[in-house]
Amino acid sequence: MIIIVDFGSQTTHLIGRRIKELGVEVRIINPEEILAKVKNDKPEGIILSGGPSSVYEKNAPTIDPIIFTFGIPILGICYGLQLTAHLLGGRVVAGKKEYGPAEFRIQNSEFRIVDELPQQFTVWMSHGDEVVRLPKGFKVIGSSDGVPFAFVENSNKKIYGLQFHPEVEHTQHGLQMLKNFTEICDLNNYFKHQNKVKDQKSKVKTTAQSLKLKNEIKEIKEKIKKTVGEKDYVIGAVSGGVDSTVAAILTVKAVGKRFIPIFVNNGLMRDETEEHLKKIFRKIKIKPIVINAVGEMLKRLKGITDPEQKRKIIGNFYIEIFEQEMKKFKAQKIPVRFLLQGTIYSDVIESQGTKNAAKIKSHHNVGGLPSKMRLKLLEPLRHFYKDEVLEIGEKLGLPDEFVKRQPFPGPGYAIRIRGEVTTERLLMERQADIIVLEELKKAGILKNVFLSFPVLTGALSTAVKGDGRNFGEVVAIRVVESKDIMTSVWTRLPYEVLQRMSSRIVNEVPNVSRVVYDITTKPPATMEWE
Ligand code: XMP
Repeated sequence: MIIIVDFGSQTTHLIGRRIKELGVEVRIINPEEILAKVKNDKPEGIILSGGPSSVYEKNAPTIDPIIFTFGIPILGICYGLQLTAHLLGGRVVAGKKEYGPAEFRIQNSEFRIVDELPQQFTVWMSHGDEVVRLPKGFKVIGSSDGVPFAFVENSNKKIYGLQFHPEVEHTQHGLQMLKNFTEICDLNNYFKHQNKVKDQKSKVKTTAQSLKLKNEIKEIKEKIKKTVGEKDYVIGAVSGGVDSTVAAILTVKAVGKRFIPIFVNNGLMRDETEEHLKKIFRKIKIKPIVINAVGEMLKRLKGITDPEQKRKIIGNFYIEIFEQEMKKFKAQKIPVRFLLQGTIYSDVIESQGTKNAAKIKSHHNVGGLPSKMRLKLLEPLRHFYKDEVLEIGEKLGLPDEFVKRQPFPGPGYAIRIRGEVTTERLLMERQADIIVLEELKKAGILKNVFLSFPVLTGALSTAVKGDGRNFGEVVAIRVVESKDIMTSVWTRLPYEVLQRMSSRIVNEVPNVSRVVYDITTKPPATMEWE
């Protein structure tokens, strides 16, 4: 078993997922629990996660340095490495900031921790601090252009440190590094599993995992059944997206007709959403309730320009509607007690899901909810990542058209319109969105795109249209690739496709003067602009 000490990284849970993929048991704990957990659980290895703090700040989360003397292999990742250096006599400073891809080179391949790694590959960084002096006994394994101490070790003490993130999808060979660490940890469990793991390349997907998935589905259904009980009803916030669809199917399987799907048309969704949703529920022979809230939604967003406020208004409005529905059902003696949401882990962690984590944005269905609610939340996918939800959907036999759809955020177009959401700007956003989708489809690219959308940036620029001056809005196009949402890269669209999108948007969407393409990775930029 490996203990992961959580210093508040966005990806602590993801480290846990990767270690589990290697067939190793994981426990995620808070820093202050470390001594007790080491004593009681006797882990074979410890991973110190990343986190948003700086080790030299007052009250930065820390651990008792005695753990470095126990002889248990320790891997520090990002903040974890900086804390290791700080506690053992090295020096950490506010250094060169790096967010996103970096080229990493191994200088010293003699160590077991770099087994089967090539000399050079791409890794993902996300740090503002840097180790500038290593503690005694530590050696450099490899560096990137910006970070001399990107991978370090003290193999006598089995202590290792990485400035980059091996757990994220876009770090090449990340799983191999974690595998090497688990081997150093000498896990009995792990060795039993190793033959299966050996055949896999960068993404480990074993028969054991497929079985695990089957068991997971069974477990989720049982949990839903147990939570909901024998009599209560569940209303479900469904959007036609894969997360809420998979959550709905699992709930139907668990409680049958005691599940009532509700779609709130808030006017911020893509045009085809309602039709698509009806199609899904026709398949499972349940008629969703459709609530038209278009006018009211826009009224509540009037004058609102702050992204967090937008999310909170939308989250609160949803709950208000669902609680009204609950009351109506109760009046008919139908005991509705639960609200099903398709919340997944990336929604949770960005909304400050753990003790030491920073709030990145309040996803409308997590941090954007009112503090008091009459409905109890049912979130069976809360601990899963997007690609795991897709796998569950496929395993449940959902057709590709239901599963392989672009995610669309609950606050919809509102968070793709910087500044106030007016009827006019909403129409502009909708028109531009249709153009981007049509052009991706025509080029045969749409099916491979994770997420695509235009953003009304709120910036204005000068254009000459038909010899006249136009001081119109700048539209940014964002098209990204990702699997688990935790990291993403921008899609290298062919120039001709970009040109067609640009020409069509400036020609067909009124009051647009300029189109730009967003070439920022996540991190640092989140996928949505707000
Ligand atoms: P970010 O912008 O956080 O987006 O990198 C990651 C994924 O989450 C979606 N997203 C949301 N989904 N409510 C949602 O249901 C929200 O408030 C929200 N904010 C972002 C985003 O579309 C992307 O798929």
